[in-house]
Amino acid sequence: MKNAAKNAFVTGFPIKQSKSPLIHGFWLNDLNIDGTYRAVELAEDGFSEFIAQLKSGDVEFEGGNVTMPFKEEAFQLVDERDAIAEKIGAVNTIYRKDGKLCGTNTDAYGFAANLDDLAPQWRPKSQNSSKAVVFGAGGASRAILFALIEAGFNEIALYNRTLSRAETLADEFGPSVTAYQIDGVDHGLKNADLFVNTSSLGMHGTPVPDLNFASMAEGAIATDIVYHPLKTKFLENADKQGIAIADGFGMLLHQAVPGFEHWFGARPKVTKTLRDKILNG
Ligand code: ATR
Repeated sequence: MKNAAKNAFVTGFPIKQSKSPLIHGFWLNDLNIDGTYRAVELAEDGFSEFIAQLKSGDVEFEGGNVTMPFKEEAFQLVDERDAIAEKIGAVNTIYRKDGKLCGTNTDAYGFAANLDDLAPQWRPKSQNSSKAVVFGAGGASRAILFALIEAGFNEIALYNRTLSRAETLADEFGPSVTAYQIDGVDHGLKNADLFVNTSSLGMHGTPVPDLNFASMAEGAIATDIVYHPLKTKFLENADKQGIAIADGFGMLLHQAVPGFEHWFGARPKVTKTLRDKILNG
């Protein structure tokens, strides 16, 4: 007999470290839903075979999450992808719709929803005075640029060690984004309303440049998508200089919401209980 429970997966290589089973497991239990969410361990070259099985129905999943290094392959292999996935160039969430396998990317949503939670004043009040400084132009930076443009930032200064990567993104994202060499960040911070670190600097306490956050606009906010440690050195420095800070851990929790709703039909909430549980689990 067919199992009535709905099932979802997370896959990546490696996948053991993923917090996603804990997050979705918490919601399934909390909302009393008959479903499972589990990590699927694949070989590094096993993703296309897995997608073929999903398409043929050989594996019974409503959909799932895709993490490193399969996000770009997922982008190529799904039947359909939405506008956000197209812009970000990577798929982190797969779901079924009208018999097709659809791909989206929920990182931009997760980033914005985390700031809405921790620092709701982050959204520009006026299109004329909304400057953001983005540090880093790697894969993660795309979702952040998408979220900032959608929120209404009209001046986004993108700093990267490798200038050409920042220039490529600036070309793609249009006139609100300008690429700069990394050593000019202090100049860019003057009167900026928001600073976002999207680079891997500061992860596990590695050194970061000592930036002049104090020159940012009144009421400015600094945030970091790195959340190991929770208060990164960028955030520590900004805090010492009197700038409001918002850690990036909630991005991980919020980016999981749309997928859960697609697979299990209920929209879960990111609560303090969930945050504490995942932080300590
Ligand atoms: P992700 O997909 O997680 O963003 P990535 O594509 O490797 O990872 O990008 C990492 C980002 O951190 C890039 O902006 C990278 O700068 P480069 O494009 O010049 O490589 C940045 N980064 C990593 N180590 C850095 C360092 N030591 N100094 C400055 N920037 C660094």
